[in-house]
Amino acid sequence: MIFATTLLASLLLVAAAKPTRRTMAVHETRAEPARGFVNSGPAPAAKELTLRIAIKPNNIAGLETALYAVSEPASAQYGQHLTAEEVAEFVKPTDESLSAVTEWLSENGITSTAVTPAGDILQIVIPVAKANDLLSSEFSVFTHVDTGATSIRTLEYSIPASLQAHVDFFHPTTSFTRPLTSPKFTAIKKRDTPAADAAPVSDAVPASCGTTITPTCLQAIYNIPTTAATQSTNKLGVSGFIEQFANSADLKEFLTNFRTDISSSTTFTLQTLDGGVNTQTRADAGIEANLDTQYTIGIATGVPITFISVGENNADGVDGFMDIITALIKEATGTRPNVLTTSYGFDESDLSRSVANLMPTSTLCNAYMQLGALGTSILFSSGDGGVSGSQSQTCTTFIPTLPSDCPFVTSVGATGGITETAATFSSGGFSNYFAIPSYQSADVASYLTTLGTTNSGKFNRTGRGFPDVSAQGENFEIAWDDELGTVDGTSCSSPTFAAIVALLNDQLVAAGKAPLGFLNPFLYSATGRAALNDITTGDNPGCNTNGFSATAGWDPVTGLGTPNFALLKTAIGL
Ligand SMILES: *[C@@H]1O[C@H](CO)[C@@H](O)[C@H](O)[C@H]1NC(C)=O
Repeated sequence: MIFATTLLASLLLVAAAKPTRRTMAVHETRAEPARGFVNSGPAPAAKELTLRIAIKPNNIAGLETALYAVSEPASAQYGQHLTAEEVAEFVKPTDESLSAVTEWLSENGITSTAVTPAGDILQIVIPVAKANDLLSSEFSVFTHVDTGATSIRTLEYSIPASLQAHVDFFHPTTSFTRPLTSPKFTAIKKRDTPAADAAPVSDAVPASCGTTITPTCLQAIYNIPTTAATQSTNKLGVSGFIEQFANSADLKEFLTNFRTDISSSTTFTLQTLDGGVNTQTRADAGIEANLDTQYTIGIATGVPITFISVGENNADGVDGFMDIITALIKEATGTRPNVLTTSYGFDESDLSRSVANLMPTSTLCNAYMQLGALGTSILFSSGDGGVSGSQSQTCTTFIPTLPSDCPFVTSVGATGGITETAATFSSGGFSNYFAIPSYQSADVASYLTTLGTTNSGKFNRTGRGFPDVSAQGENFEIAWDDELGTVDGTSCSSPTFAAIVALLNDQLVAAGKAPLGFLNPFLYSATGRAALNDITTGDNPGCNTNGFSATAGWDPVTGLGTPNFALLKTAIGL
């Protein structure tokens, strides 16, 4: 009885406390849905929405300074990565911001939970009708025409004007994510015996590498050792999304064919979040997941590989891209991977500017800043559409890809051929969201000078240039669904480069040194670039243009160039 009375009393209190409406201000707006989506009508009023509220970090500029201090080889603090507590100190909201937001929520009878360790991102679950009332929004069902996939978004929302100084954004609201894609597989005749080119590596690159790339080819082309890594704490993480499963039987078949010198039972550790799984039905194997696990395990010999399968139960509005980083930030040093490779991405314009933007807004790119400060190297494939974005598509202006163009990640483009030239699909260009980071400002200026007026008006001359580096990305032979075949894409390039970084880290850790962490300041330094093969031929057409051309020095097709393990090892002082 007492309980019932108390409950009734507090319900009345809530009802009585219904606030007078605050002055609202439009916080984010976009004229139309992202390309490929149509509005299919209002979202059902009673449908529960999970919304995230990003509150402004108290000192993101301080974190950026700290990140560069531990990532620039010339800095006294080089390699002295931050602890999770130190990162959280920069990222947590001020008490003032936090209480401004939580007071407004409680006025509206809404409770929130923090989803990040620093407490800068809160989550609330409310019905569509309540969200529309709270945010003066019109949450609607948007259908992706090509696939029929639906998502609930609004083209505009408002928050109380008094909160604008405290809140970065509500999400998912005005950002769209097109269904992620994976490379196409071209079957080739099944081999009965181990591949003829799976011979011990020598200085000479086997001629077969001109038509089909195997781990042996990459070892020869990039001077990668075949000897096993020794450090069990030096992990390499492979991101998995969209129910792409990494298949162990296919991996065994791959190793049996292409790494006859190591155990064919070598495998990965599985990590899951957001309801992710890794179903082993062979027919359900994912091309991308198989490619990424086979080429990290196949090249980073002996490095512990973690396949991180992010499920569909993600509430971050970016297909779990934010959740995977939050999960890694929460992990202890020694458990957290020193390298993370991701072969998925979006067109920049699909994501709302504030969700992706660097400053003052906090978000995806800031999450990479945090993980980088903790000592993880983050690599992304640059995309497969040349200057037309993540995939080949019609366009009038060039489409940059995200997260690859976040300044705190290393974007990896693609090359092909034994005498390497840019792969035509290698996405590259200049961001409309992120300004040019200082580590590449001289390179971008010099490239733009050489470029002159070519492609004028089709790209942003003040944006961050990408990719940063490149690696082979054509005709990679993989095992998939019990068949051998080839795949193309920067999806091949990112795991390749990541595997090399992981092998370098193994030797650093063995020598009692810190792992490389955020790579770009090192890669763009005089010593870093001298350890890369500058690619000077080829271009990346798209949008009815020839795109950009590879040139001497950095270019927005192949970046600074492709890796040379032996030279990189010397460049990092080993
Ligand atoms: C070009 O890039 C800069 C730097 O990120 C940005 O501030 C500006 O808004 C961009 N311009 C357009 C038209 O997107």
